[in-house]
Amino acid sequence: MTDPARVGVLLSGRGSNYQALQRSVDEGLLPAEIVVVISNHRGAKGLDTARRAGVTAKAIPSSGMPREKHERCVIAELRAFEVEWVCLAGYMRLLTATFVDAFPHRILNIHPSLLPAFPGLNVQAAALEHGVRVSGCTVHLVDRGLDSGPIVVQRAVDVLDDDDEDSLSARILREEHVAYSAALRRLLTEPWRVEGRAVRFS
Ligand code: GRF
Repeated sequence: MTDPARVGVLLSGRGSNYQALQRSVDEGLLPAEIVVVISNHRGAKGLDTARRAGVTAKAIPSSGMPREKHERCVIAELRAFEVEWVCLAGYMRLLTATFVDAFPHRILNIHPSLLPAFPGLNVQAAALEHGVRVSGCTVHLVDRGLDSGPIVVQRAVDVLDDDDEDSLSARILREEHVAYSAALRRLLTEPWRVEGRAVRFS
């Protein structure tokens, strides 16, 4: 592993989690360098944000391309940039086993619920509909399942009686921006291992 660690970010849209990671890097809080940002959508706002930050930003459009082929292109690009860690930041694609196995225990994802509750999509609405009193976000290592990998950091928020999807999502997003950098920082600066389902720091 190099120091600073070479990080690639994959995103599909807004990119606020990427921006939060970038800020932590720029402020010297993360021993990492974001060397490339890749989106499967040409119009992703996160690509513009990266370019403004002076980071190489590339679109590899997924539409109309077979999944395996698209993944091969993304992996090749990440390899070309000698990426060691892959951070999924609102990347709206399920990764195949080929992708996951290409970066074993080196892919991170951020998810807007307290996993294992509410995996998948539209999870803030699902949490409200279920009537949970606490929700939050999870940063986890990616395994072959859906939002099922070993958990690195979680941050909780209260669900308020008058919350709607927007207000709850916004409150969770603020915590996401803290959680993602915190998780990557721990993984880069502390000894850790995966034991069964769990990440153990020691
Ligand atoms: C976040 O809520 C993240 O947890 C989920 O997708 C959203 C991406 O937001 N995976 P942004 O593009 O980082 O602003």
